[in-house]
Amino acid sequence: MLTAHQLKKSYSTGPRETSVIDRLDLTVPSNTFATIQGASGSGKSTLLHLLGGLDIPDEGEVRWNNQSLYSLPENQLCEWRNQSVGFIFQSYHLLQELSALENVELPAMIQGKEDRSLSHSLLEKVGLSHRIDHRPLELSGGEQQRVAIARSLRNQPQLLLADEPTGNLDRKTALEIIELLLKIHQQEKITILLVTHDSTIAQMGEVRFQMENQKIHQL
Ligand SMILES: Nc1ncnc2c1ncn2[C@@H]1O[C@H](COP(=O)(O)OP(=O)(O)OP(=O)(O)O)[C@@H](O)[C@H]1O
Ligand SMILES: [Mg+2]
Repeated sequence: MLTAHQLKKSYSTGPRETSVIDRLDLTVPSNTFATIQGASGSGKSTLLHLLGGLDIPDEGEVRWNNQSLYSLPENQLCEWRNQSVGFIFQSYHLLQELSALENVELPAMIQGKEDRSLSHSLLEKVGLSHRIDHRPLELSGGEQQRVAIARSLRNQPQLLLADEPTGNLDRKTALEIIELLLKIHQQEKITILLVTHDSTIAQMGEVRFQMENQKIHQL
């Protein structure tokens, strides 16, 4: 289970301080496919970063299976992030000089746990076994996002955080990508938290959240 308690985050830009998240509480049960909607600038990406251990809250806490993340020493937080969380972004963040297979293998290489056959089977799972040697520029947007999804699964995470993963894709491809994420959620029993502007996609969530006024509520 993923929970946030009384989370607070503001950004300082010069003399100004902008509060983005204020006393936010959230509970996402395990093995849930949850969606988050909210206006641009409402703090969705900020929240995902806090939930995934990428950014530190000013106050409050995030708990994963009852372990408070930000009370962990830095190396353990880093390990949790690498081992337990997968991230997918709107702009795929693939390394251009690497092939699809090498991009998927990268998170494991960083940990010294290379196993190309596992990366190969992940590319198969996302329907890209015929494109393993292609570089990102030789792939369509939807294909690049499939590579990014395979990469996010490489270290077998329990939690997948997806920030507008279909924002750059046409409708048909977008829905295919969401179907793929749903399939992965069902097969691997992964908790998925997906930010989307698309209300059709948002409604596919088993649990649906809305962000506004620096807080989040369940719909
Ligand atoms: N590094 C930063 N420094 C200063 N302000 C920031 C920073 N990151 C985000 N903000 C501000 O925090 C607010 C929330 O940003 P955030 O990116 O979380 O919104 P969002 O809901 O993801 O928006 P979008 O739907 O456009 O992606 C915005 O007003 C933004 O300007
Ligand atoms: Mg955002």
